[in-house]
Amino acid sequence: MVLLTLILELLIIALVNSNYTGYKVYKVVPDTFEQLKAIDRFHYQPHFDFWQDGTTVGQTNNIMVAPKDQSDFEADLLKNKLNFEISVDDVESFLNQEKQERLMTRTFLSLGQVTFQSYMFYSEHMAYLRRLANDYPQIVTLDKIGESYEGRDLLLIHISSGPSDISKPVIFIDAGIHCREWISPPVALYIIQQLVENPENSYLYQNVDWYILPSLNPDGYEYTQTHNRLWRKNRRLTAGAECYGTDLNRNFDYMWMFDGASQDSCTEIYAGPEAFSEPETQALRNWFLNNTELNIKLYLTFHSYGEMMLYPWGYARVLPENFEELHRVGELAANAIGQATRINSNYLVNSSAILLYPAAGGSDDWVKAIAGVDLAYCVELPDGDAPFFFMLPARQILPVVQETFEGVKAFHSYIEETY
Ligand code: ARG
Ligand code: ZN
Repeated sequence: MVLLTLILELLIIALVNSNYTGYKVYKVVPDTFEQLKAIDRFHYQPHFDFWQDGTTVGQTNNIMVAPKDQSDFEADLLKNKLNFEISVDDVESFLNQEKQERLMTRTFLSLGQVTFQSYMFYSEHMAYLRRLANDYPQIVTLDKIGESYEGRDLLLIHISSGPSDISKPVIFIDAGIHCREWISPPVALYIIQQLVENPENSYLYQNVDWYILPSLNPDGYEYTQTHNRLWRKNRRLTAGAECYGTDLNRNFDYMWMFDGASQDSCTEIYAGPEAFSEPETQALRNWFLNNTELNIKLYLTFHSYGEMMLYPWGYARVLPENFEELHRVGELAANAIGQATRINSNYLVNSSAILLYPAAGGSDDWVKAIAGVDLAYCVELPDGDAPFFFMLPARQILPVVQETFEGVKAFHSYIEETY
């Protein structure tokens, strides 16, 4: 039965896929502030997809443009005296190559197992969590915090040394909110595996409790596996909207729609019809609001890519009152990763609006501002040793998850020592 489903899924991957024939990715680097603004406008244009964002003069942007928009786009660049290079000449063949590699390296897992040699299906993520809950009932409990729009379980794993002592500091981690950022769930799963199944790490949950949600946008994730590798948003169609999906990381109710978000459903940064309009963001909100008695000290949300440790605020270029601590602790983690890296990761640490771009409605801002968690970070994971963008090859999962775990341990020791 399981085998049959897997074979079916592989067939779907091989046959049904959105078509990116002729789509190009343009690499553009602005030299002036005017040029920077000219590029930024495309964030708000339907169907333009930034694979990389440059926020200041001199930084690289990579923008995917559909064939029908290419001549206007190139004319616009010319008008603004912007030179460009082509990073990906035909997105379709780029994706096909990735797909072939993926099918070849695909490992068949027996139910409840985890792997870091290939990307797993959502069903396999969940089977792994369920197996752990079954095998380690003293330390693991599972909580279904809600369902995705299409009815998939949003499973949160709680790892704890036992009789819940609500004064213990808590670390909360989620992953997969942007579903094409495939390296994010494995990072969460590796932390889970190391905590639960590697006895050497049991010290990590003696004084600190962990809550980890590895797949926050399972509908989107499934869709990237079967239909469109580049899907970012969830899969709900807003009533009356033209295009599917809301950017879940623009849908949280703190300074919603303030900046870096759009009300056009065909953009990649569509914030939804209103804050918390989506079942996936509602589930996270409800969990935090239902657990206010917990002593949550650290929130991590994993994204890719960029090698950045981003702290609030994201909505604008202003800093929270504890920014010095946020910066210092972010650097502890970044340095730990830098020490451990085998793929030359080199993290930058700053507020996300300053280092990346202002974007309101993110989970990190809401968790800090409303759920009251002092330390919140959006971790932009690496894209490997070549520009793979979101398509990090399976062979690089292991080095990324291992080095990131070193960063997470650095966060943990700060939390343990401080609280
Ligand atoms: N790449 C992430 C995004 O675009 C960064 C989010 C950072 N946090 C924020 N609140 N803007 O969603
Ligand atoms: Zn993201």
